[in-house]
Amino acid sequence: MSIRGVSINIQGLGYRYSSRGNPTFSNLRLEARKGEALAIIGRSGCGKSTLLHIIAGLNRPTEGIIEFDGKKVDGPSSRWVMMFQAPHLYPWMKVAQNVGVGLKFARWPEKDKAERVAEALRLVELQDYADVSVQDLSGGQQQRVALARSLVMEPELLLLDEPFSALDAFTRASLQRDVRSIAKRLGFNLIIVTHDIDEAVLMADRAVIMAGSPGKIVTEIEVNLPDPRTRQDAAVQAMRARLMDEFHAAAQVAGTPFTEEAKQEEVIIDA
Ligand SMILES: Nc1ncnc2c1ncn2[C@@H]1O[C@H](COP(=O)(O)OP(=O)(O)O)[C@@H](O)[C@H]1O
Ligand SMILES: [Mg+2]
Repeated sequence: MSIRGVSINIQGLGYRYSSRGNPTFSNLRLEARKGEALAIIGRSGCGKSTLLHIIAGLNRPTEGIIEFDGKKVDGPSSRWVMMFQAPHLYPWMKVAQNVGVGLKFARWPEKDKAERVAEALRLVELQDYADVSVQDLSGGQQQRVALARSLVMEPELLLLDEPFSALDAFTRASLQRDVRSIAKRLGFNLIIVTHDIDEAVLMADRAVIMAGSPGKIVTEIEVNLPDPRTRQDAAVQAMRARLMDEFHAAAQVAGTPFTEEAKQEEVIIDA
């Protein structure tokens, strides 16, 4: 597969769900280099998913611009694809059929499609599962199928909205490592939305912290750590501690109301 990244330029971005309501965020600026893995960290409700949907072209911003390689984004595209917490597979299809579904819609010839699907399955280490029904797979394997289905389109940007939060810790760790290593090998951009600080440290080149209502980007930190990264590395733990401090400081700066939901989340963030 030959995948390249995009440079991302977001300026003055604002969004409101209703014309009379408060903005979800306003005047937001975010830039990313070609091939960069960016994490957006923030508590529930600060607008992370809304931002990701807008970047994916699924929602239109109320104000501001989004450009990929200097070109305005004005809708969804197979060049930027999104992965969600649930894999959203077709349960009646085999693994390979699920992975090839985008190519089928694009009317690829059968032989080219089969080659591309096989390559995507190798990348996610599911090459032995092509003819298995997705219903017979574990949650982690299903999320790998969803990942292969995204990769098969050779995206320049993969957007991930808390994609591993429903998985057990071991499965989550292997997917975090593999998604980063595949993105780095193939060169595409990642934007990972998460409220898990570890996930940001393990997967990102840079983390931005979003807080407040309306949401703003309060801080950004380069996560300049060598690969492969593991939770036990002293450098990973030091970065985690630094991000945690910044995260708490950001919440205070932004004056985030400390809701019951936020208190619950604190448990996850401090775990
Ligand atoms: N479809 C919607 N209609 C109206 N308000 C929404 C909708 N989706 C989200 N919101 C509100 O927008 C804010 C940001 O939500 P969201 O982007 O989902 O935050 P996050 O992903 O950070 O948890 C929240 O206050 C939420 O209630
Ligand atoms: Mg969300």
